[in-house]
Amino acid sequence: MKLFLDTGDINEVRQVADWGIVDGVTTNPTLIAKSGKRFRETVLKICELLPGGDISAEVVATDYETMLKEALEIASWHEQVVIKVPLIESGVRLVKTLTDRGIRTNVTLVFTLPQAYMAAKAGATYISNFVGRVDDIGGDGMEAVVQTVEMVESYGFDSEVLVASVRHPQHVVQALNARAHVSTMPFGTMKQLFNHPLTDSGLKRFLDDWDKAGLSIFERESVS
Ligand code: G3P
Repeated sequence: MKLFLDTGDINEVRQVADWGIVDGVTTNPTLIAKSGKRFRETVLKICELLPGGDISAEVVATDYETMLKEALEIASWHEQVVIKVPLIESGVRLVKTLTDRGIRTNVTLVFTLPQAYMAAKAGATYISNFVGRVDDIGGDGMEAVVQTVEMVESYGFDSEVLVASVRHPQHVVQALNARAHVSTMPFGTMKQLFNHPLTDSGLKRFLDDWDKAGLSIFERESVS
């Protein structure tokens, strides 16, 4: 499963880029607005920090003609950019146009299997299935993910299922179990994936024992 960071914060991208295991970044208008920086400048900096990664950047118009202009503008910024498009009628039409022109897309705000099906039919590169927002209102967000992975795999669509609106590590566990292709999450959640108290206590004990014995990895004395 690919691992994407959901952010508009360049400093967060810089930190995860150092790990060498993050495959891309998803932004949305809210995250870009929160960053306090200009859109193009932020997207280009993220591309530079994560060479070869897929960087999703979203259109903000809702009528087809304007969405197309915005999409072509954003796509011209960098080859790593993936155009994020909302799952509305004009959005699906736009995805079809962009697919035909060889421009990659990420269809966002997908909550149900029928919506995912429309995105797949249009040739979406990624289908962003939101889980946390469904859980927030008492539903089971992961249900549509499971159904969408099954639909994409069994019908042979090229789209990859991207689990979005991830709120905690258990969502990542469920995404892995559902065989989702991608998971995107905030910086805090990604950091939590490292954590276990037994790792911390276990490491402390290893290092304390090592120090008490006065050992060094670089010692050259022969053992007699
Ligand atoms: O970028 C889309 C998605 O991941 C948003 O998550 O937490 O705002 O529902 P959230």
